[in-house]
Formats: sequence, structure tokens, C-alpha cells
Amino acid sequence: MNTLQLLLEQYKKGWSLEREFYTSQEVFEQEMTYIWKQHWLFAGFSCEIPESGDYLTYMVLDQSVIIIRDDDGQIYAHHNSCRHRGSAICLEERGHEDKLKCPYHSWVYDKNGSLRSARLMPDDLDKSQLGLHPVHVAMIEGAIFISLADKPPDFSQEIAALSPYLRPYQLDNAKVAYRDRYELEANWKLIGENFRECYHCGPVHIEYCSVVVGANLVEDREAVVAESKVLWQQQGLAVDTIENTGDASHYATRYPLRPGMESYTLDGKPAALPMGQYKQYDNGVVGLINYPNFWMDGVSDYIWCMRITPIDALRAVVDLTWLVDGKAVEGVDYDIERLTEFWKITGEQDWHLCENNQKGIRSVRYEPGPMAPSEEDVVNFHTWYLNRMRKGVMKNQ
Ligand code: FES
Ligand SMILES: [Fe+2]
Repeated sequence: MNTLQLLLEQYKKGWSLEREFYTSQEVFEQEMTYIWKQHWLFAGFSCEIPESGDYLTYMVLDQSVIIIRDDDGQIYAHHNSCRHRGSAICLEERGHEDKLKCPYHSWVYDKNGSLRSARLMPDDLDKSQLGLHPVHVAMIEGAIFISLADKPPDFSQEIAALSPYLRPYQLDNAKVAYRDRYELEANWKLIGENFRECYHCGPVHIEYCSVVVGANLVEDREAVVAESKVLWQQQGLAVDTIENTGDASHYATRYPLRPGMESYTLDGKPAALPMGQYKQYDNGVVGLINYPNFWMDGVSDYIWCMRITPIDALRAVVDLTWLVDGKAVEGVDYDIERLTEFWKITGEQDWHLCENNQKGIRSVRYEPGPMAPSEEDVVNFHTWYLNRMRKGVMKNQ
């Protein structure tokens, strides 16, 4: 039995995971194979590449993917590896190219990946066999997901669950107001776990709790939830929480702000124009997750999104994006500092918690501890994760 199998056997449901899940490079490499190179990963938003030829690249460990919009508006993803001798083609994180020209010997590819020209090669070169290797793409209402798997897992449930929550934002017409990036000294799962419970919110997230009713787990918010739900339903908005249980990788919910609060801001007042179809500010908070790397919180006037990308067992990058309505004008309809301060403060509180968590887990005396009832979703996250790892081990036996 290898290390991972032993660890999987030792797991006690409702308790935190063994140390090696957060520290072992051997376990990390198996996660890369069984999860990160298999599952659907959030890469970015369609509004980040609005014009034909706009592209972004997403690097997941050692794999780089080009995501580019074609002339007909379709979004393609390709492995960023030239079919001649393998050079990376797009070297920037984002940019615009009418064609994809390899920097080494100048082979040229169309945006859809087909090889257009290969200079000074024999006339009988079969270009049709030398297109860029495709990467699977799935769109959910303007959110771009990719899978590096040969045969990706079924994604229809996730698309069906998240679409009604994203649709009103009309993300194709949204725009990026701000981006930020943090490199954390924390295993990627600790970041995921942190964002699956509010047990820590009361003592730590003073600003968050001042805007979100019940986030401290002390106040009763049932009446506000019930009342808000009726209003949202009347507007045709998605309200049913889609729990993450078993093998599902997604979670979706809509929850209310504190009465009188209109946005995720320090004073609860709006920070920008209502987005997309929203006409007012009373649509609560849309919380969406897709494991392993997509977390999104949207209020009526902006979206805050977190993309997690592991570096190794001990480190991960979080890429944060703030989206606003495409019509919103900076300096007129929104101010960057005001738009971003709420999540800058709240996020940085969380980054510290995650890094502290990692530090403590490295102690020789660390051992799994019991979870609180309010950490049920962390347990669900563990279930999803452990099932993926178990299946991976079984397949490779
Ligand atoms: S490696 Fe790309 S053209 Fe040679
Ligand atoms: Fe938090």
C-alpha cells in the first residue's frame, strides 16, 4: 500500500485531514494527475477576451493553455506547444494576436489552432495533421472552463446548476474593473476549506459580518432569508441552494445582505451600476463554487471572483477579478478603491488564516481535529476531494 492509500484509509469523516495531505509533494503530484489535469478548471471570463484575436494563457503547474477568441466569436483553447519542436507560442498572460506565430521558427497557426503556414518546409508537409492540440472548453454564461483531460468528466450538471445564477449578470457584456494576485504559503485545499465555512467569520471578518446577516453564526437570519426569497422569486431569480454533496463539484446559493445594505462595501452602499439584467440593488449575494479552483461572490453591482492555482504542496496562487457592468465608467460610476476595499480587507484576513493554518499543520504534533457542525461544507469538500483521489488510485492499480 502506498502513502496515499494509507492516508485515505486513515481518514475519519468529520475530522481534518492528515498532515501529508497538506505537505507531501508525493500526494500533491497525485492530486495534479487525479484532479487538476482531469477536472474542469475555471480559466477566466469571456469579457476578458472580447475581440477576435484576444487571448489569455493559463498555466496550471507545468501545463500552459492558450484561450483565444476566433473571428466568429467562438472561444478555443489549445495546448501552448508548437507542433514543430514544441516551443511555447504565446509568452504573455494576455494579449492580442491575429494569428498565432511561434517565436522559434515562425510556424503560423489560425486562432482555431489549425496550422496555416510552416516556412521552408517541404511542399508535401501535411499541415492538416499538425494543428495545435486542443484543450476542452466549456462555457457557463461567460465563465470559461477548461479541462486538460483526454476525456473530461461530464459537466452538464454544473452547467445546469450555475447558469441560472450567472445569467442575469450578462457576463459577455461585463468588464474587468480590477485584478489582483497573491501567492500564499498555503496548500490549495486550505484556501478551499477556508472559503467553505463561516465558523471563523464572527471573530475575524468584522467588515463582512457587518454587511452579511447571520455570517457570525449567532444572529437568526431565517426571517430575512424567507422574506428575501419571495422577492427574488417574484423577479424570476434563481434562489434554490444547490448543495455540494457526494461527487458534485459545484455549489450555488443566493443569500441576503443585512436589511438596508445594498452591496459588499464597507458602508453597504452600492459601489457601481447594477450589472446586466439587474435593475436594483436588492438581489442579495450569489455564491458559486466549482472545485477545485472557482469561487465567486456576486452582489448586484459587482462580482468578486477567486481562481486558485497550486504551485506545489506548500504554495498556491489566488487570482482575483472584480467585474462590473460593461457600461460602468471608472471615475463616474465606480471608484476602484471603493469597489475593491471590502474584498481586499476580507481576502487578506483569509490569506493570513490560511498561511497560519499551513504553519501549524507542519508541527510534528499536528493531528486531525474534530470539525464543528457549521463546517459541514468543509467535510463535503473533503468527501469530494477524497473520492477523486480514491478513484485515481483505483484506476492506476
Ligand atoms: S518550435 Fe515552433 S516553429 Fe519551431
Ligand atoms: Fe473567511
